[in-house]
Amino acid sequence: MENFVPEETIEEIRQHFDLVEVISNYTALKKTGRNYMGLCPFHSEKTASFTVSAEKQLYHCFGCGAGGNLFTFVMSVENLNFREAVTLLAERAGISLPEKPLSSGEKQFKALKEELLEINEVSMKFFSGALFSRKYGSEALNYLRKRELNDSTLKKFGIGYALSFGDSLYRFLKKQGFSEDKMEKAGLIIPSSRGSGYYDRFRNRIMFPIFNQQNQVVGFGGRILDQSQPKYLNSPETPIYNKRKILYALNFSRYYIREKDEAVIFEGYTDVITAYQEGLKNCAASLGTSLTEEQAEALRRNTSTVVIAYDSDTAGEAAAWRGMDILTKAGCRVKVAELPESMDPDEFIKKKGIRAFEKEIIEKSLPLIDYKLQKIQRDIGVTSFNNPEEKLLYIRKIMPVLAQIDNRVELDVYLQKVSSQIEVQVSSLKLELRKVRDTKGKPGSFRQKKTDDAAGKEFVLPAAEKELLAMMLKYPQYTGEVKKWLKNTDFSYAPFRKIVDKLYEAADQGKTYTEADVSNLFTGLEEQRIAAALILEEEKNPDSREKIIKDCIKKVKCSQLSSKRREIEKEISQLDKQQDGEKIKELLVEWSELKRLEKEFLL
Ligand code: UTP
Ligand code: MN
Repeated sequence: MENFVPEETIEEIRQHFDLVEVISNYTALKKTGRNYMGLCPFHSEKTASFTVSAEKQLYHCFGCGAGGNLFTFVMSVENLNFREAVTLLAERAGISLPEKPLSSGEKQFKALKEELLEINEVSMKFFSGALFSRKYGSEALNYLRKRELNDSTLKKFGIGYALSFGDSLYRFLKKQGFSEDKMEKAGLIIPSSRGSGYYDRFRNRIMFPIFNQQNQVVGFGGRILDQSQPKYLNSPETPIYNKRKILYALNFSRYYIREKDEAVIFEGYTDVITAYQEGLKNCAASLGTSLTEEQAEALRRNTSTVVIAYDSDTAGEAAAWRGMDILTKAGCRVKVAELPESMDPDEFIKKKGIRAFEKEIIEKSLPLIDYKLQKIQRDIGVTSFNNPEEKLLYIRKIMPVLAQIDNRVELDVYLQKVSSQIEVQVSSLKLELRKVRDTKGKPGSFRQKKTDDAAGKEFVLPAAEKELLAMMLKYPQYTGEVKKWLKNTDFSYAPFRKIVDKLYEAADQGKTYTEADVSNLFTGLEEQRIAAALILEEEKNPDSREKIIKDCIKKVKCSQLSSKRREIEKEISQLDKQQDGEKIKELLVEWSELKRLEKEFLL
């Protein structure tokens, strides 16, 4: 693929893994015939259209068009680039990679990040040690015990305690040999305002480490033990901590989220920790801020449904709604759970148990639109609409919500619902809706969801080109013959040309390959996807391969010749017989030459 690692190493990594096994960690696969089938991990579906070939070590989804090899799978499912995917897999396989040459700036930055991670790790241990020390930690530990968190939970989440002395962490880290500069960059110490010295950012607080997807500590949240303010103090953004990207506890819960195809999103640390401890493990927290696009993407990669379970007062806030809209845009089905007045999930679970929480809160959560409509109605303060003013107010308030619905059928459903709820005709509602859409600058149009339309494109792509590509991908011995007749530019679709490029290059170098390792040749995800689809497609043409190839070359050539011929015909028809006589004669000669060639090819 790319040359940051030698090809042999890439191949060694690929051979180390069985793709069926790797994919089985993400979706259940069942053997059917020669292949394995399962529900596609890349789009939500009810019947299996995701195929994995053990023999060819490739996957392809007939539903959404996703496809490729080991590396593309890990790239897509873990959202990594090629380099990161190779690094991750090499690590798992215990294969060492040659260090890629970094620029000195990159080297410095990498070293800095590594040191910051180390400082955080060491600090987490320091905090945890303090929590469990009889001398310093008993008050904090008692507090946590009172909140019913057990020791194994405390250990799992790395929870600790920051001492109340001004600079105990600072002194500890210094003894470990870390520089003040790095401690400060990690957000753990703050220079004293009196001009010299440092003090700890976190003092007398319960410490919650924040992990990234690789289970590394990137920051902390620290909760005060009493009622003083601020309740939580958090690490600032650092080279290793970007708040927009992190969801608290997703590193622990990702597996369960995938398994259930549902994520429950809480507001706070304690909600997640309690839920997880009590057995609702498919959860994460947005840490009191509204969801970002990056977080929504991370969720979408793991699940199709997200249940928002915020504290009852927050769920209705504009910022929370924005986050939910972002999730919807990312392609998640969003539901909103409602908690009893002024209760947060943590309290609810403690009071009534996790079963009750699942039954009464999660299972009763409402689809986002229903939730918003209900909330608007409640804000107006009526249980049914009797007077015209209330109806008008309601209509005015719900229109922006309805205007966001992209799907025509879904919109119809809601229009009907509202229509019968407030006894106003659907057609009148539609008129109002149009007004809102118009003022918003999208005149009644239904935006098409952005989809990966290349899968659709393939159906209209020239079948002969596809077939040639498939042949060359599967049987390198025929590439030479194709190359003799067709230039790379004879293929009409850019990704096809890229594939052909690589196949021709391999043929020139006398490289051979198998169906299982041919994908190593390609750099782009699109090429990988197409290659996997073509290789895994059943061979339906009963002719011999030689004949198929010959026929297809002819078809490609002829279709080119005839399209050129049609161009000439068009040109001639636009010329003036009197004035351009000479030109027309020339074109006619060219035309008959093309016709002759076409005939020749067809023989
Ligand atoms: P909450 O106030 O609901 O906290 O804020 P909580 O997690 O439920 O904590 P307990 O149960 O009262 O101990 C929700 C989240 O908002 C962020 C934190 O991430 C918190 O978990 N927050 C809250 C802050 O960052 N700073 C604050 O001062 C308060
Ligand atoms: Mn809370």
